[in-house]
Amino acid sequence: MNAKGIILKYIDFFERRGHKLIPNSPLVPENDPTTLFTSAGMQPLIPYLLGEPHPQGRRLVNVQNCFRSQDIDEVGDNRHTTFFRMLGNWSLGDPARNASQCEAGGYFKREEIGWLWEFLTRELRLPKDKLYITVFAGDGNVPYDKESEEIWKEVLSKDPSINSGQAEKRIFAGDVTKNWWSRSGIPDNMPKGEVGGPDTEVYFKFDDIDHSDKCDGDDPTKCECGKFLEIANSVFIEYQKTDDGFSQLPQKNVDFGGGLERLLAAVEGKSDIFESSIFSPIISVIEQSIGIKYSEFEKDFRIIADHMRAGVMLANSGVTPSNKEQGYILRRLLRRSLDSWNALGGKDLTLVIETIASECSKTDPEISGNFERIKNTILEEEGNYKKAVEGGKKLIEKELEREGKKTGGEIRGKVEISADLAFKSLASFGLGPTQLRSLGYEFNEQELAEKIKQHQEVSKKGADKKFAGGLADQSEQTIKGHTATHLLHKAIRDMLGSQVHQKGSNITAERVRFDFNWDDKLTDGQIKQLEEVVNKKIDENLPVFYKFMSTPDAKKIGAIGLFDEKYEGEVKIYMIGSEDPDKAYSIEFCGGPHVAWTREVKSFKIIKQENLGRGLRRLYAVVG
Ligand code: SER
Repeated sequence: MNAKGIILKYIDFFERRGHKLIPNSPLVPENDPTTLFTSAGMQPLIPYLLGEPHPQGRRLVNVQNCFRSQDIDEVGDNRHTTFFRMLGNWSLGDPARNASQCEAGGYFKREEIGWLWEFLTRELRLPKDKLYITVFAGDGNVPYDKESEEIWKEVLSKDPSINSGQAEKRIFAGDVTKNWWSRSGIPDNMPKGEVGGPDTEVYFKFDDIDHSDKCDGDDPTKCECGKFLEIANSVFIEYQKTDDGFSQLPQKNVDFGGGLERLLAAVEGKSDIFESSIFSPIISVIEQSIGIKYSEFEKDFRIIADHMRAGVMLANSGVTPSNKEQGYILRRLLRRSLDSWNALGGKDLTLVIETIASECSKTDPEISGNFERIKNTILEEEGNYKKAVEGGKKLIEKELEREGKKTGGEIRGKVEISADLAFKSLASFGLGPTQLRSLGYEFNEQELAEKIKQHQEVSKKGADKKFAGGLADQSEQTIKGHTATHLLHKAIRDMLGSQVHQKGSNITAERVRFDFNWDDKLTDGQIKQLEEVVNKKIDENLPVFYKFMSTPDAKKIGAIGLFDEKYEGEVKIYMIGSEDPDKAYSIEFCGGPHVAWTREVKSFKIIKQENLGRGLRRLYAVVG
């Protein structure tokens, strides 16, 4: 049975049990500014999990394309992928709470667990002795899920192939880190209003894994040797996060998700999902293109296969590489896979892209029609990446020459560079640690990681942390102050004229300080006007974007702000209101970070002004 066969069986199984097939939602969500990608089948269903009636009823089934950017760095092992297809079935509301339900009403733990076992063992014919179960062990807020445990015991002990007394030995209890599911993870990480609940998971046990490392018996919540693969997760969504714990949702929901790639690996008995029939043609074409065996460089092959496949799916959804949001993630994916591709000596990517597109079009047929666009998106980024690498190399070589460390010519062997320089090449050309290493540079990894960490942007929108440069203090208040400064700068120029410029600024968690060239004391009316304009822009909740570009390009689009004229690398430009320079309210050189939407700044008030002499004035303001 191949991937398509599993999909057909799954949909048929749940349709026969009263479920209505709902379409695969776009990979880039249409109406959800809180997240960059669809990462679970339940995501578009949140209003219905909260109680809104779904037009197709209370029993739903689908196959959802998902992308999880938080897993990028996990890819390289035998099980993680960033893009995957999730088989999902839902019950929107337990009949116990909706007594008027007819037959096709909602259901809860008993039906879900019984059907899941039937589907896995009868339809997919997974060997029963390889399946292990986990349930929620409870925590301070939500009790031990005894009900699921009892239902599983009944289901397993009724199965003639499971010996009496054996059922208990297959069921284990996990804490919030293992058997609790919400989009934000454990309860402590859930924002107010987020839904979630305890889950019960099914694991497939592989015997062909080297058990020596981190092996811990038959408990999937403890053993980390890699022999257990999670193939199914039934979440009982009945809770909503509140200020001081959880409240019960008006209805008890079931949210089942099973990764197609993992189910296929279990069906085909492949402990390495990259050897299953979804990935094996891709792995073969990489082997063929590079002339190296998968077994020799497994990690690089997996990164190329997963990231290029995800790249094809994102490009198919209309994403193009850029320095913001979804485009930034696509850029990171493609560049990470190009690092591995180049390191292994890969040349022409075309055949790899073609093979991936043809594999993916078996389940997403529109890919065939989009193929030329997808291919060009990826190949163009390959070209841009080559240019960025050249730029980064030049920057580093220049600096080394300046320091007298290199007298010209080609670098041979490893060259040591400072973490500062490594960071500069990252900030200017986007060359990350892996790329720098593959170019033959050595640096203090920890120091660089700390620098990157210090500069990571606090973005409420993205599931991913994006790179940013700039402020050392990145408290929420300081970030708000930073965005308010850009708004003030623009407002002050609009009011006094474009001869006025920022001459300095200093932002702390307590206040914003802003210096500018102006001789006269601002009148009360002028102060009021500035406050009004800035607060209006805050209320308009304008989006904040950034882009990297050369200084001349930045000046061409009218970027203002303090910057080093002589700086040859790319500079970071923040735009408020639109990423189209003609429509943006403010365009400014800046390292960031900034809020994602201006309303996060909340409010702006000028508290003091000072005369600094020499035609300079200073304003103090508070935000939030
Ligand atoms: N939402 C759960 C998951 O993503 C089950 O569908 O695993």
